[in-house]
Amino acid sequence: MSAMPAQTKMTVPLLDLKAQYADLRKDIDEAIRRVMESARFIGGPEVSGLEEEVARYSRVAHAVGCASGTDALLLCLRALEIGPGDEVVTSAYSFFASAGAVANAGATPVFVDIDPRTYNLDSHRLEAAITPRTKAVIAVHLFGQCCDLGAIDAVCQKRQVWLIEDAAQAIGSEWEGKRAGSVGDFGCFSFFPSKNLGGAGDGGMVVTRNADYADRVRLLREHGARPKYHHALVGTNSRLDALQAAILRVKLRHLDRWSESRAKNAQSYHRLLEGSRVGRPYHDPKSRHIYNQYVIRAEKRDELKQFLADRGIGTEVYYPVPLHLQQCFSMLGHRAGDMPQSEAAAKETLALPIYPELGEERLRYVVQTVREFVDR
Ligand SMILES: Cc1ncc(COP(=O)(O)O)c(C=O)c1O
Repeated sequence: MSAMPAQTKMTVPLLDLKAQYADLRKDIDEAIRRVMESARFIGGPEVSGLEEEVARYSRVAHAVGCASGTDALLLCLRALEIGPGDEVVTSAYSFFASAGAVANAGATPVFVDIDPRTYNLDSHRLEAAITPRTKAVIAVHLFGQCCDLGAIDAVCQKRQVWLIEDAAQAIGSEWEGKRAGSVGDFGCFSFFPSKNLGGAGDGGMVVTRNADYADRVRLLREHGARPKYHHALVGTNSRLDALQAAILRVKLRHLDRWSESRAKNAQSYHRLLEGSRVGRPYHDPKSRHIYNQYVIRAEKRDELKQFLADRGIGTEVYYPVPLHLQQCFSMLGHRAGDMPQSEAAAKETLALPIYPELGEERLRYVVQTVREFVDR
């Protein structure tokens, strides 16, 4: 006889954006109608309005909307004129864009292993990775928790390299009371739908305290043209759509409430998974964690994922291959074993549903099913 009580099978998606839309339908429909009737689809008051609101929210002076979080990173690198022959240090364990943007700028990504507790770049290893060719560090705030910004910023200042915060997963997160994106030279956000502040498609934003940097990013996102049709720089087309901006302005008003609900779900998971054989995420007390993801560790991760899927529970592996072992970076000459913490994380981590509308009953079902597998 099973030690666990009989369960009713439920469906628990990893994320439920339909529930979010059902909640906000009236305001979102109204925002879409407003843009359609104004016919201001490119730039205009919705985009500048969101830029002002995100700048205020992130406690920085400037924000520049762009087409994606990936472009936000690339635009910062281009604004700093980082390119061939330059190195940019970043985490070996992140979404591909953190390193892909570096390669797309023509520069070389240099990887640093992670702190296994937070999955963020291990600040103790940073300085050793900096060479005379290093121009910048891209510090990724993974899963919604800031990396050790105090120590990382100190190394960047000492070694005179720029600091770009990849805050794609961490809007509203804080390090010792400072908002993600407000410490480095630049902060980059993604509005990919699964983010805490997600649009109805792609979108991104660069924030900075520096007016000249903001101006350069603004120029580069519109083909480097100023005035129109006169190009001092070769930029690109990377604008944030007015429709996305209008939708995001509605959602921004709910962001803190959603992030608090996610944190509350995390607390429940933490309590209910105590004593089980899964590793629970570590919350650094210096950080405000916005729980874009709730990531557990399990030895038989892939079997657990399948077990949960068979019982209607959506999960995801972020990320199965660390960046230094990606095929496209094979020219860097890395081998398995070079970044042991990133490699172990890639084998053992699993993200559970943590969206704000999850609710106690579904959360308990997830916990019960996880425990049924790991503790049997
Ligand atoms: C850490 C990180 N960096 C960069 C990005 C890129 O953002 P986008 O998907 O908007 O291009 C993402 C998005 O998934 C991300 O998670």
